Amino acid sequence: MERIELTDEMISVLRERVRDYLKPKRYLHTLAVEEEAARLGGMFLPERVNALRAAALLHDITKRDDLEKQLQYCSEFGIIYDVSEKSSPKLFHAKTAAALARRDFAEFVDDEIVSGIRWHTTGRAEMTTFESIVYLADYIEKTRTFPDCVELRRYFWDGVASPGVDLAEHLKKTMVKSFDLTIGNLIEENSPIDRDTVAARNRFILELREDVN
Ligand SMILES: [Fe+2]
Repeated sequence: MERIELTDEMISVLRERVRDYLKPKRYLHTLAVEEEAARLGGMFLPERVNALRAAALLHDITKRDDLEKQLQYCSEFGIIYDVSEKSSPKLFHAKTAAALARRDFAEFVDDEIVSGIRWHTTGRAEMTTFESIVYLADYIEKTRTFPDCVELRRYFWDGVASPGVDLAEHLKKTMVKSFDLTIGNLIEENSPIDRDTVAARNRFILELREDVN
């Protein structure tokens, strides 16, 4: 896979450029995701820390756009969507942000960065470590106060601090827990559960059982 090298200067430029795409509160969240992704990157993918920063900075660039605009992006970028997704418009922004990042920020992204953006909301089967970090950073960044976020943040960092921890395994367990929390909420709200989320959870559970790999 072709990988882009991002300097600290490029990250600073990107950090300013994405500001135009985000409401002020979302921008603060985005900066917190960047910081969290860099911290997790330092533990799991040290050579990709700036790429993780870029994915974090770009992950929500279409979040403020309404359903009409999301559908417009879909036709513009040839994004295929399921009719059921129209009832969960939140799910559009990951797909549309990935496409918009390629168009408006081409000099800052490679395939890995774009896929980190693409899968940051639902997850997917066989998530890469890169995708998992962007997803998890979004969930547990320090400004999140939603009880599930607080719980997952504590679970992850307590596990990291526990003696003899296998970090790769703990990351997978944290991902499973995140999906359990998300799916639990969706059930409570009587909302549909995205198939990619189910596939992501299934895959991590099998990996933890070592039925695969
Ligand atoms: Fe986010």
